[in-house]
Amino acid sequence: MDPIIAATHTDPYPYYASLRADGGLSFHQGLGLWVASSAQTVAAVLAHPDCKVRPTHEPVPNAIAQGYAGKVFGQLMRMNDGERQRCPRSAIQPGLEVIDTDEVGTLVRARLISPFADGLHKAMFMGPVCVVAALLGFTPAEGRTLSNLTADFVACLSPLSSPAQLDTAHAAAEQLNGYFKERLSAQDHQSPLLEGIRQRMEDPDTLRANLIGLLSQTYEATAGLIGNAVLALIRNPPLKAEMQRDPARVKDLLAEVQRHDPSVQNTRRFVSAPCEIDGVSLKPRDVILVLLASANRDPQLNDNPDALILDRPTRRSFTFGTGRHQCPGQTLALSIGSATLAEILTHNGLLDQLAWDYRPSLNGRIPVFRER
Ligand code: HEM
Repeated sequence: MDPIIAATHTDPYPYYASLRADGGLSFHQGLGLWVASSAQTVAAVLAHPDCKVRPTHEPVPNAIAQGYAGKVFGQLMRMNDGERQRCPRSAIQPGLEVIDTDEVGTLVRARLISPFADGLHKAMFMGPVCVVAALLGFTPAEGRTLSNLTADFVACLSPLSSPAQLDTAHAAAEQLNGYFKERLSAQDHQSPLLEGIRQRMEDPDTLRANLIGLLSQTYEATAGLIGNAVLALIRNPPLKAEMQRDPARVKDLLAEVQRHDPSVQNTRRFVSAPCEIDGVSLKPRDVILVLLASANRDPQLNDNPDALILDRPTRRSFTFGTGRHQCPGQTLALSIGSATLAEILTHNGLLDQLAWDYRPSLNGRIPVFRER
């Protein structure tokens, strides 16, 4: 086991506990990076001004820098610090925070969820992007195209992608840009979310890149949230029966699953100046793997952290990050996840007939289901 294999391991949590026992911040010789595993250290790294989201010498990964996906990547708030993050964030965050949960539920229920593994796959991977696309004013048919393009685009974010996948990602980025160009020029005021963002962001290139960013941030993380909640039900049949009896409980399940078994297990920070964290001296070019999922299971953060407790009185979680880059889509993701799981339980009750593997990933914990 190592901290990267852990993200897609059947049960990484005892290993995370052993890392925390060895100290909050330790150097992993094999991977050549620092690993932050305790709640205190994870919080300190994410708050530190010298811990950046990209290495100074490589703001865009070399593998994609020459193509269209690289152009988009370089403008994403998620991949920048300073003004290039603050400016798009201040334009996008306010609108995301006021999205109506009932509207999200209606959009989720408008989508057909067909039975068995194929239906589950579409509900996890296509549904959430379709909902965000609809909130941005796209038609259902455009939403389906956008979710396929987003699937292609997100390959550029993973170092595991092949050259062919990167080529496809460049083409997808260009097409996504075209869709947003048309949508923005329509001026039909179909989407209050899009209108608000447009009014708050002047530069059209940055605007379109960060709208593509909304789709790409939604795609895998929300699929993983839904998938890990399905797994929790497969592993715990009485819990599944409770959810089917009382669908209002689904949102309590999602609130706990996001902490207990998060779809985003880790993120990274790149040290830009000499600094000290938890008494450890760090130097420029050091890389820190920030184990969000381990911090969630730190007993200093949550009592009885390994138990799945739906009615946890004070739940604390790093799954959506914290500090400058904290996820602005958290409420939306949980609304989409809850409404989708409720629909899955209505239309796809045969969860116990499914087998699964985790999608290959360095940081995502996303089950892919198949029939047994
Ligand atoms: C379960 C689903 C999701 C999870 C677990 C998740 C998790 C995260 C995390 C951990 C970060 C911070 C990364 C870091 O600091 O290194 C982040 C950032 C971000 N997320 Fe999410 N996210 C989810 C869904 C969404 C959705 C639905 C949207 C929007 C529609 C969204 C939009 C964003 C954006 C724009 C950022 C970058 C913020 C910034 O850099 O200022 N996320 N997300």
